[in-house]
Amino acid sequence: MTAQSSRAAHDLSAPNDLEAWWLPFTANRSFKQRPRMIARAKDMHYYTPDGRAVIDGAAGLWCCNAGHNRDQITAAIQNQAADLDYSPAFQFGHSAGFAAASRIAQLAPGDLNHVFFCNSGSEAVDTALKIALAYWNVSGQGSRTRLIGRERGYHGVGFGGISVGGIVKNRQFFGTLLAGVDHLPHTYNRAEQAFSRGEPEWGAHLADDLERIVALHDASTIAAVIVEPMAGSTGVLPPPKGYLQRLRQICDKYGILLIFDEVISGFGRLGTAFAAERYGVIPDMITFAKGVNSGTVPMGGVLVRQGIYDAFMKGPENAIELFHGYTYSGHPLACAATLAAQDIYRDEKLFERAKTLEPIWADAIHSLKGLPNVLDIRTIGLVGAIDLASRPDAVGARAFEAMDRGFNEYDLMMRITGDTIALSPPLIITENQIGEIADKLGKVIRAVA
Ligand SMILES: Cc1ncc(COP(=O)(O)O)c(C=O)c1O
Repeated sequence: MTAQSSRAAHDLSAPNDLEAWWLPFTANRSFKQRPRMIARAKDMHYYTPDGRAVIDGAAGLWCCNAGHNRDQITAAIQNQAADLDYSPAFQFGHSAGFAAASRIAQLAPGDLNHVFFCNSGSEAVDTALKIALAYWNVSGQGSRTRLIGRERGYHGVGFGGISVGGIVKNRQFFGTLLAGVDHLPHTYNRAEQAFSRGEPEWGAHLADDLERIVALHDASTIAAVIVEPMAGSTGVLPPPKGYLQRLRQICDKYGILLIFDEVISGFGRLGTAFAAERYGVIPDMITFAKGVNSGTVPMGGVLVRQGIYDAFMKGPENAIELFHGYTYSGHPLACAATLAAQDIYRDEKLFERAKTLEPIWADAIHSLKGLPNVLDIRTIGLVGAIDLASRPDAVGARAFEAMDRGFNEYDLMMRITGDTIALSPPLIITENQIGEIADKLGKVIRAVA
């Protein structure tokens, strides 16, 4: 079978049955009546089965930072598949895995120099939480079992992640299986922060709530605090100036581990390799996924500081030090894709590019202020969010229509959460394309007024 004919075999330009696939985080009935189908992609664009080019304002799901179908990454995946399709990571290793871990560790600040691989952001979060709990066990402080998250935090869909996350629907539908969590307040306050660019001035004091939580539970019961440096999925909430630094200070004061969930903010989204670098704050662990290989092959991981790794490296040499891992941890294809994506990031200076484009991006997105129903706009790095007023008794309907019509009528791909539109284009975006996205968005916002 030629490459061309094997492609045709799964070409869904004429879909005949949309029933079997239960789509995740999707209004399935609506989708199946009016599908938004994607056939292929290249650089800044998706292409529909009928050949329309749709500009990607969301880097897929905040992940395709190098743009789509980059030849270098495709070749690396193809070559790796031809050489070594799979190799177990339990008690065995392969060179792409060690090379990928080293590349990622080199990008991270301070002594965040060990990498534990998994396959998604959710697994990265659950892995980091488990490492935190196990770390205190091997360090003789097994009473430290409490995990502190934040309201409006999104840490994926595992039971650990939804427990420390701060999303009401998770509590409503799934309860919280993980006992012993508490939450910091979220950092968004429209009255104080509306239409801010970058880090809002107001809100650093909200980190002090950790003092209250410590006073309530006692530091000897608290293992770790986990936050997204910039909350992404619940509507793009940049950290107030000084907030993350304050959180680090309080964690240090009480010996609490600090975990940054950088599944979105990692790999250039905020103009630096990790947000930790932008803020000059070194957490004890960083979770990553998505942009690590530009979204091409499922991959996630946890960066761990030297001291945490060392704490496990004792006992009999033939004993497993951390009782954790996934069949596909460090999958050869994911690692090969990672190395190729990291080459592109370095050679095309994409993290620096995001930093240079930040003010141009901010100007373009903030130019939408004043359009009908626009309540707030936030930008940071190459990320933007626009809060739209909800329709009476139909929360989310306006943004849903914007997403649907954006794709079908205006050739623009965006993300939505509630009535917030979220944007995070590939880092290869040009100034003209920034203008194009803002222009299309303005039309869509008027259309759904
Ligand atoms: C901060 C954060 N953590 C974790 C996740 C979960 O990642 P995944 O969907 O790969 O499991 C996401 C996904 O958007 C995320 O934004």
